[in-house]
Order: sequence, then structure tokens, then C-alpha cells
Amino acid sequence: MTQDELKKAVGQAAVKYVKPDTIVGVGTGSTVNHFIDALAEMKDQIIGAVSSSEQSTEKLKSYGIEVFDLNSVDQLDVYIDGADEITPHMAMIKGGGAALTREKIVAAVAKEFICIADSSKRVDVLGNFPLPVEVIPMARSYVAREIVKLGGDPVYRQGVVTDNGNVILDVHNMKILDPKAMEEKINAIVGVVTNGLFACRGADKLLLGTSNGVETY
Ligand code: 5RP
Repeated sequence: MTQDELKKAVGQAAVKYVKPDTIVGVGTGSTVNHFIDALAEMKDQIIGAVSSSEQSTEKLKSYGIEVFDLNSVDQLDVYIDGADEITPHMAMIKGGGAALTREKIVAAVAKEFICIADSSKRVDVLGNFPLPVEVIPMARSYVAREIVKLGGDPVYRQGVVTDNGNVILDVHNMKILDPKAMEEKINAIVGVVTNGLFACRGADKLLLGTSNGVETY
């Protein structure tokens, strides 16, 4: 199976975790796009969605799925999103699609975070995928210097402006042995909006697309 077929399989498998008459939290990315395609088939059974990006909002709306402002929603039963890397302890790197901040906010509200990913995303140690950090534009050089002190090599993602009007630094060459500590350290740098480590609030469940089928962890 191709990587995209594995992504499609987990995207389709995730709809069974969406409860009727609820609002579902929806992430961002190519795996989530498959989930949205599958969600559209049960759209009459749900109230609507809260979205983590303009890209997903557009796709949800194109199917006639109502998208709610998070401020008007008290509770989300599930949040379904992809990952760039995920460990057996359910810590993740996210933000390859630059949507990390809104993803982290929606994940914080949800009772359950279900990660959908193809098998290439499963790793023992995070950091092979460059860690995205969303930064207030005027703080870019300062934050980059502080990240160098933590042992990383930050690279400015040229031409990308996030949905929140900020920029992204992708941090290369970090072997992240303690994801919670690193998440807190980077978030403590003034000018950082958030970083793509989802360890303090990791996934609760993983649907992993493998050549043997969808495995659940
Ligand atoms: C976007 C994300 C995505 O979940 C992550 O990049 C995985 O993307 P894909 O499903 O396209 O492989 O965090 O900000």
C-alpha cells in the first residue's frame, strides 16, 4: 500500500469514534483530509465541527458541515488529527502544516485526542522530523538564538505565514529524549507562541495505518 492509501485507511477508521449529535474537533493535513471525506458521509448525524485551520475549515464547509467558533463550544468529546512523529508514549511532533497552535488549543479542549497516522510516523525518539515553532515575527532572530542555546538548528520556513499571522522556525538536529521538558523549555522563550511538541498533552489513542491493516494503540 502507498503512504496515501495508509492515510486514507486511518482517516476512514477514525469516523467510528465520532459520536452522533456531537461537535467533533478536526485537525489539519493530508491524513485529516481523508478523515473529512469520510466524515462527510455521516454529516447528517453530527452537529458540526471545530476546526484547527483555515484549510480544514474550507474543506468542512465545502461538504456543508457547520464549523463552530471554539469560543461557542464548552466541550469536545474527540479531537482527531495527524502527526509528523509519534512515540510509543504518545508524545508527538506536529506542525508540518504550520497549524500547530490552533491544533494545540483544540486538543486542550477535547476529552480524547485520537491521532491518525501512517506507520512511517511511529518513532522511538522524536526529533528526526524538524520541530516546528510558531514565533511572533519581530522575535524571530531572538528566538532562533535561544533555540541554538538548547542545541537545535532553527531554520526560518520562508514564505509561510500561519493562520495567526506569525512565522515558523523548523528546528533541526534535536534528539528529544524528554519531550515534556523540551516542550516547556521552548514555550518559555519570549516570543514563542507555541512549539510542535505535543507531550504535556499527548494523544490518548493512535490509529496506525500499516500494511497489515489499521492498528489501534
Ligand atoms: C499540521 C499537522 C499535521 O497533522 C501533520 O503535519 C501531519 O500531516 P499529514 O497528515 O499531511 O502527514 O500537524 O500542522
